[in-house]
Amino acid sequence: MNSNNIYIETYGCQMNQADTEIVLGILKHHGYKVTNEIGKADVILLNTCSVRDNAEQRIYGRLGNISTLKKSNPNLIVGVLGCMAEHLRNDLVEDKKIVDLVVGPDEYRRLPEYINIAFNGDKGIGIKLSRTETYDDIIPYREDGLQAWISVMRGCDKFCTFCVVPFTRGRERSRSLTSIVDEVKQLSDRGFREITLLGQNVNSYNDNGNDFADLLSAVSNVDNLMRIRFSTSHPQDLSDKLIYTIADHPGLCNYIHLPVQSGSDRILDLMNRTYTITHYLGIIEKAKKIIPGVSFSTDIISGFPTETYEDHLMTLDVMSQVKYDGAYMFKYSPRQGTKAFKMLDDVPEEVKSKRLQEIIDLQQKISYDINQEMIGKEEIILVEGYSKKSDLFLYGRTDTNKVVIIPLGPDIRIGDYVKVKIDRATSATLFGRSIDSVNREEKNMALSA
Ligand code: 5AD
Ligand code: SF4
Repeated sequence: MNSNNIYIETYGCQMNQADTEIVLGILKHHGYKVTNEIGKADVILLNTCSVRDNAEQRIYGRLGNISTLKKSNPNLIVGVLGCMAEHLRNDLVEDKKIVDLVVGPDEYRRLPEYINIAFNGDKGIGIKLSRTETYDDIIPYREDGLQAWISVMRGCDKFCTFCVVPFTRGRERSRSLTSIVDEVKQLSDRGFREITLLGQNVNSYNDNGNDFADLLSAVSNVDNLMRIRFSTSHPQDLSDKLIYTIADHPGLCNYIHLPVQSGSDRILDLMNRTYTITHYLGIIEKAKKIIPGVSFSTDIISGFPTETYEDHLMTLDVMSQVKYDGAYMFKYSPRQGTKAFKMLDDVPEEVKSKRLQEIIDLQQKISYDINQEMIGKEEIILVEGYSKKSDLFLYGRTDTNKVVIIPLGPDIRIGDYVKVKIDRATSATLFGRSIDSVNREEKNMALSA
């Protein structure tokens, strides 16, 4: 095969990053080579996101750029993978003639077949969603490194009214616990130090009676030098068992991403989020009690249909009460096919923007205050690489996912756990210095203390 250079760009969430590794695993198995240079590609794939309109617009813009490459190389195959393949199939194939391949998240096994169809001059289209596909047996293609994602379940059955994911990624299904544990063992042997278990709603994980807490315990027992993170948790399903499991296993990071979306019960009801703020705050309080030092991050949407200024104030109030370490904050974006799409998008754009800005400003202040309180404290970080700004500094993250910058030291290597003291902080970054490198026993003692 001559035409076998694949170039892929990934947009959107971590699930998409993990899917790209699965896609590359499948294609490499079929003899394709991966190139990082778009100019050398025979096949260009965009793994896309539909969660908000601006994500889709960005990808349309990118397809516009790529069409110039196609003019100079008519044999070039251009494909759209991921959520947009499900959401915009007709638009992509019929209106935007540049696309030769449209393959949704459950059809990646057949990608080589669809690529051949495209090379033969037809459109390669695979958009069926599956109730069973988990790519359990596929070995994802990963460069060596410290951090890896593993998707442990796919799809979502929650049907939040704003969200297109249940339509683009289909129904919930879980990968087998044993295959996940085996993958973690292989990653541990290759020197990986941090694994993030991924799913749209990881707390619904279920493999023949093993729930997500069982999976976390099994994974954290593989290698006690490995950190385990996970995302995303739905507040309705975050069990006491899970909270105790995090508390009991030093390798499970004390960090929970728990999207609240809105601080108003009325809006939460319209969003079909199936919890109230009282319930939500109850979980936070319980977790803070049981897991000392636990930190939280969240997702917030501003300007959902009918959101009033009072509703907005309730969101700000929840943020002040929880004191999130971080937040992903968005303006509501109507998505065709969802229930909310039928509601009137009645919060004017400038009001959405203004409220979003207030949410961002408040979060920045909260993050700044939390980080100021860290000054003088000792933390253990996993050193991940050189600071983006200077080769004289390294960066790493705490268990609670905070970035810490430290000066290079003769005995500090990337991949080490290092005990640091925090000297200075902004809202986004902590600055410190190493006090000690930490061996396995010390790390576990310190983490379980
Ligand atoms: N508009 C704005 N934000 C959205 N999200 C999901 N759908 C939409 C939408 N239609 C946000 C939610 C979710 C995160 C992944 O993206 O906050 O938790
Ligand atoms: Fe979308 Fe809600 Fe499912 Fe998250 S839980 S993927 S927001 S439907």
